[in-house]
Amino acid sequence: MSTPANAAVAIDGGELALGGGLLALVRPALDLLAPGGVLAIRSRNAGLRDDLPAWCRVEHHDYFGVERDADGADRHLVARGGLGLPAGRREAGFALAPSAEGERFTAATVLSAVPFPERADPHSGFAPRGARVEPGGPRYPFTLTERDRLAPPEVAQLYDQAVAAHWDAARDIPWAKIPRLPRALEAAVAQVMTFLAENELSALYVPARFVPQIHPAYAEVAMFLATQLADEARHIDAFLKRARAGGAGVGISAATTSHSLLTLLEARDFTEASFLLSVLGEGTFLDLLSFIEKHAPDEATLELARRARRDEARHVHFGLAHLRHALAHDPSLPARFEAVVRERAARIPQKAVPAHVQDALTVLAAGDVTPSAIARGHEAFRGLLETMREGRVKRLENAGLDREQAERLSELHTPNFM
Ligand SMILES: [Fe+2]
Ligand SMILES: [Fe+2]
Repeated sequence: MSTPANAAVAIDGGELALGGGLLALVRPALDLLAPGGVLAIRSRNAGLRDDLPAWCRVEHHDYFGVERDADGADRHLVARGGLGLPAGRREAGFALAPSAEGERFTAATVLSAVPFPERADPHSGFAPRGARVEPGGPRYPFTLTERDRLAPPEVAQLYDQAVAAHWDAARDIPWAKIPRLPRALEAAVAQVMTFLAENELSALYVPARFVPQIHPAYAEVAMFLATQLADEARHIDAFLKRARAGGAGVGISAATTSHSLLTLLEARDFTEASFLLSVLGEGTFLDLLSFIEKHAPDEATLELARRARRDEARHVHFGLAHLRHALAHDPSLPARFEAVVRERAARIPQKAVPAHVQDALTVLAAGDVTPSAIARGHEAFRGLLETMREGRVKRLENAGLDREQAERLSELHTPNFM
């Protein structure tokens, strides 16, 4: 083996012994080199003449021997072996320029500098995107390992928005401003809140099932879903508080709701679940929350519906972005969606909105129980169903389905709204 004349990298080890800290300089220096690249180690520690060749044998690096410097120090030459980290440079970081106060360092900034890979390696485990991964790690059971099936580029921005928009259900709702409402009206509000909370529980559980399937190379998707889960937790908390705060308490849970939500919980595929839950279900809930906001008999209910709707708009936005992205890369999706919606419709025996929900929304919109008010409330409820239908068709078209299919799928959507 001939001795290389020039080293690509040189370090000065002074009097450090190999076991006395010198490796903390040697190893990172070797990591910078491609296999075969040469490191020169200057040293005044004579013990290194025995220790360094032995260490190189164990670590599969090539030791080329030692020579004397002009000033009498040792100069050892080591070539990096082929094992260990794959060759490559350390990720370049980016120092933030001093900026105006209040400027935010966003996840979207990071994602644009360190983009999602097209595919992710299951052997990289929980290694953050951008890390150099030492070979030999175990295979992880992540199943969502393709960018185009999982990670729309908007996701980091949605995560940033979600974090900035978090609110506090204990403090931000004017709980003290709930007046004594007529008994029937308060009972209607409490029933609507019960229905909302039951559906919100499914919106907490369904996306949670997919988080452990997401490869950490697409961590922003898991992080966004974490904000969505926190949103749903807050909605459940707030809706149940409103049901209880006016004295009527939690109301009835319908079998229709139960059938409908089980089909969501049992969805096996992330894209299908996101389509059913976020685009169809949460999309329809946007119109429901607007309706509640419009007819809210008190400020707490109004504020609650308004805040929940803003959060839901983000969840729908992610669902749509995910879908548009997936549809652009998989032309078989529309047919699959149709099959999934038909199969789901067949599993829900009831075809009408749960009776207690219909009645409660009618009384809520009536604001009173006189026959003329109820007639108005009934009309408003019919109008809500029409608004929901139109909204669904529009969102499905927006996601990339054609008009006829959008209308068919909207028609087949669960009578439970979610
Ligand atoms: Fe929610
Ligand atoms: Fe949601």
